[in-house]
Amino acid sequence: MTSTARDVPRTTNNAGVPAESDEHSLTVGRDGPILLHDHYLIEKMAQFNRERVPERVVHAKGAGAYGTFEVTNDVSQFTKAVLFQPGKQTDMLARFSTVAGEQGSPDTWRDPRGFALKFYTEVGNYDLVGNNTPIFFVRDTIKFQDFIRSQKRRPDSGLRDNDMQWDFWTLSPESAHMVTWLMGDRGIPKTYRHMNGYGSHTYMWINESGQRFWVKYHFKTDQGVDFLTQEEADRLAGVDADVHRRDLYEAIEGGNPPSWTLYVQVMPFADAPDYRFNPFDLTKVWPHGDYPLIEVGRMTLNRNPDDYFIHIEQAAFEPSNLIPGVSVSPDKMLLGRIFSYPDTHRYRIGPNYAQLPPNRPHVPVHSYAKDGSMRFDPARTGRPYAPNSYGGPAADPARFDPASGWETSGEMVRNAYSLHREDDDWGQPGTMVREVLDDAARDRLVGNVAGHLRNGVSRPVLERALQYWRNIDKTVGDGIAAEVNGG
Ligand code: NDP
Ligand code: HEM
Repeated sequence: MTSTARDVPRTTNNAGVPAESDEHSLTVGRDGPILLHDHYLIEKMAQFNRERVPERVVHAKGAGAYGTFEVTNDVSQFTKAVLFQPGKQTDMLARFSTVAGEQGSPDTWRDPRGFALKFYTEVGNYDLVGNNTPIFFVRDTIKFQDFIRSQKRRPDSGLRDNDMQWDFWTLSPESAHMVTWLMGDRGIPKTYRHMNGYGSHTYMWINESGQRFWVKYHFKTDQGVDFLTQEEADRLAGVDADVHRRDLYEAIEGGNPPSWTLYVQVMPFADAPDYRFNPFDLTKVWPHGDYPLIEVGRMTLNRNPDDYFIHIEQAAFEPSNLIPGVSVSPDKMLLGRIFSYPDTHRYRIGPNYAQLPPNRPHVPVHSYAKDGSMRFDPARTGRPYAPNSYGGPAADPARFDPASGWETSGEMVRNAYSLHREDDDWGQPGTMVREVLDDAARDRLVGNVAGHLRNGVSRPVLERALQYWRNIDKTVGDGIAAEVNGG
């Protein structure tokens, strides 16, 4: 026995019974066949064969860490949500991700980045599942699946395909704002620590007196926004595909916990119908000049998971996790997402995903859930139905908040949102290109788009793409055309 072997625990099988060897299967004679009743060998092979759960259908590649959210400003006049009350500190989990790439794909591919947060409050989990962009490619849930398929791999060749991407984008002009964002500097953040996060959707806040507000979340990085050029990103993709996961892990491990300051834009409830943009359209921002940023607090990520699979791969974020003081809005993307996430978790992780360590709330659960695959929390009552007279949990009708909705009426239709005064698909991306980007950033945008369009985009789609860019901004469109046609 070596001294190392003396210092470590003895291997057991999964039932806790001592294992006989880590190195040799049970055979008939030294050179003979392996025996089927070598249970420990069979257990090792079978366990290994089942190690993976399906990867997320989108946002498969990511990184995450635990942390704390602390309130630094009093916003209680806008919301009664416990985690936003003065002085409050709340444990949380964050996961950042790319969208289209698979588990092993490079962190530096041009893509939006997921910015998913779970807050373990004393009234249950509150999840804010956003991106590093305040906007999105489409504005109706029914287009999400088509959009994602256009970004992922073709069923025939198994390859990603720029032609497919531009075909979808140019046939969906509402994508123009997000595509402008994606093709600009922010389309490849330097690290996860160097990007902002946005709730993106419009949410509702409700205060103690039942007053309602529309709200947008902005998490600004305290590390400063920074980006990679296409060339740097391409190089890093080959050198270290996990560079962003590594950076987050090492920053926390090295005692350099990243933080973000949360601001909100708050719109009085009654402003919505007459606002110049439809305030629920996910392809639009609310200009800061209309609704300035109000500081709320700071989130700091200071604890790496001790087991990546348990805490990050099995993390299940769901925009349906809402707590009193926060509600949804008429945003048609948000309303669709409320269904989608718990549904995909049941498929990906199993029906009892909410019991797993990253997902279980830090408060007692008194639901009537029972049984199902991999159930390990006991049922809360021997009489699993409500109402019952044997002490089973009873819902509290007083928790229904009549203020958490909005009035609506009308015939059933399949129509676009109502148009507000300045609603169109080209205006806000045009503003970004002309008024936010400087000359160097505009040049990089032109170069990034031209490089993308030169790579496998068919003539008819290319012509549409050049027109799409001229609709955003004539000069930028002409610049892209010159590079594509001349390059
Ligand atoms: P502001 O001048 O107040 O805001 C412009 C914002 O643009 C900045 O605050 C910054 O957002 C963001 N920004 C800076 N550089 C880039 C870049 N390379 N790519 C993407 N965003 C960048 O103007 P408005 O609020 O009136 O908005 C003007 C345009 O700016 C909008 O049409 C929209 O395209 C874009 N924008 C607006 C945001 C908003 O919520 N109002 C947020 C982000 C962009 P941040 O401070 O969040 O980093
Ligand atoms: C992940 C659906 C729009 C942010 C996912 C997943 C699904 C999904 C099925 C996989 C979840 C998992 O397996 O754990 C949808 C649908 C959308 C939509 C149907 C539109 C109707 C958006 C938007 C945002 C967003 C607009 C950001 C504002 C995210 C993030 C993740 C994710 C951050 C990864 C969560 C994590 O880290 O585990 N989405 N999505 N999604 N989505 Fe969406």
